[in-house]
Amino acid sequence: MDRTLVIVKPDGVERRLIGEILGRLERRGLTIVAGDLRQIDEATAKRHYAEHEGKPFFGDVIAFITRSPSFVCAIEGPSGTWAIVRAAMGATNPADAAPGTIRGDLATELTENLIHGSDSAASAERELALFFPTLR
Ligand code: TYD
Ligand code: MG
Repeated sequence: MDRTLVIVKPDGVERRLIGEILGRLERRGLTIVAGDLRQIDEATAKRHYAEHEGKPFFGDVIAFITRSPSFVCAIEGPSGTWAIVRAAMGATNPADAAPGTIRGDLATELTENLIHGSDSAASAERELALFFPTLR
């Protein structure tokens, strides 16, 4: 078994797509093992997106992810669950995301792309520790 971090971002919550997005992952066969609606604070957002610090879009991404509540969750499935989730999400830019993916079906804008999923096993471990420090 394996776990990864998923965030239904503020646009997904505002558009009432939590059920649609998490439903797709559940129907795939993945399990939500922890989750809650929370407004991510700036310090946590900056730690979460530390790899992007200094890039031109960093400020916009931090402002976006902190603007209203997100649904933050831990998703469990077989080994490599992070990659299963990433494939279901589709390309980072929804304009490039394939139909059938979450971003390809439900979004059009790069910043407001509905969902975050950890991009490696190491990222999943780091991000789960950041958002769910007591989960074990
Ligand atoms: P990134 O980690 O590269 O994408 P992903 O969410 O697929 O892991 O980027 C983090 C977020 O930053 C991305 O979801 C949307 C935003 N972003 C931009 O606004 N402009 C950009 O050029 C990139 C690469 C990302
Ligand atoms: Mg990323």
